Amino acid sequence: GAAELGPYRHYMQKEIFEQPKAIADTLDNVDDVSAIEPSLFGARAAEVFSQIDRILILACGTSYYSGSTAKYWLESIAKIPTSVEIASEYRYRDSVPDPRTLVVTISQSGETADTLAALKHARSLGMPHSLTICNVSTSAMVRECALAYITRAGAEIGVASTKAFTTQLVGLFLLTLTLAKLRGHLSAESEAEHLKALRHLPVAVQAVLALEPQVVAWAEAFARKENALFLGRGLHYPIALEGALKLKEISYIHAEAYPAGELKHGPLALVTAEMPVVTVAPNDALLEKLKSNLQEVRARGGELFVFADADSHIASGEGLHVIRMPEHYGALSPILHVVPLQLLAYHTACARGTDVDKPRNLAKSVTVE
Ligand code: G6P
Repeated sequence: GAAELGPYRHYMQKEIFEQPKAIADTLDNVDDVSAIEPSLFGARAAEVFSQIDRILILACGTSYYSGSTAKYWLESIAKIPTSVEIASEYRYRDSVPDPRTLVVTISQSGETADTLAALKHARSLGMPHSLTICNVSTSAMVRECALAYITRAGAEIGVASTKAFTTQLVGLFLLTLTLAKLRGHLSAESEAEHLKALRHLPVAVQAVLALEPQVVAWAEAFARKENALFLGRGLHYPIALEGALKLKEISYIHAEAYPAGELKHGPLALVTAEMPVVTVAPNDALLEKLKSNLQEVRARGGELFVFADADSHIASGEGLHVIRMPEHYGALSPILHVVPLQLLAYHTACARGTDVDKPRNLAKSVTVE
């Protein structure tokens, strides 16, 4: 009811603003010294982790995008081959099982029928090792998996997932560090640095939330469009996908995401002054390439909306709107960059007057196929 909502108009907005606390709570069981231990994932984790050579992530919806982001971390930091599959596809296709696979399911509810069925399918193929990143400790998913990391996002009521997503990323980053350490790819120094960055996240996300008024100004323009394109590269490509999903789910604007290097292979044909192009532009190795992708859009009259890093030297100009992120955040940058995309979808939907917390035709938890 209204009392629970406090100063917020919808649960989705409240849940976006709860992210600093949700992340802090999720990190609560990560103690101080030498924090990265297999036991974070359950008593049997050390034993299981010594028997795996690869990871298969299974999930649906927003949870699939946190898994897609984690693939970049797992391969670059833990150096473990990782594949990510949409649960409803995996369960029905022929695949080649490797018993030395850790099957990782990701689910806010822990009750999604396709994800549960995909897990059982993997087990039936001879892959017994499973771990879930899940927000409900009493769920079917937690019961089915030998290992678990419980995110502490708290109840999520808005159908469009927000705080569950960012806390899943925290759990997946901890999994990455744990496997990296076990496999000899994490020095004590980088462990300490990553932990420091994780612990600073609640403050960093709070600073991003303070950008809300700037995002509201953009949402006015977005509310009048019928299409939008989202671009990202590298580990921010799944963030672009999540931004597009949020926008289409609650504002009903048709939105698509592309890895920016693919523009020239199709979506550039759609770019006109009527097509806003939202870009996640962290200051990483791909920034220079991304800037030339942005010029391709500008040259065709497309209007750019860029979330730029504190230090990425992209300035507003004709047809180019920039919101600057408060700080550059390295490997954990996706957790910060998704927040303004959540706010953009939210405020655009509000401007269009849709039922933000209960979008048409969608359910919070899909427990039937
Ligand atoms: C539904 C919800 C999404 C969610 C997806 C997967 O589609 O509307 O927000 O991401 O299910 O749910 P899960 O509980 O498995 O994360």
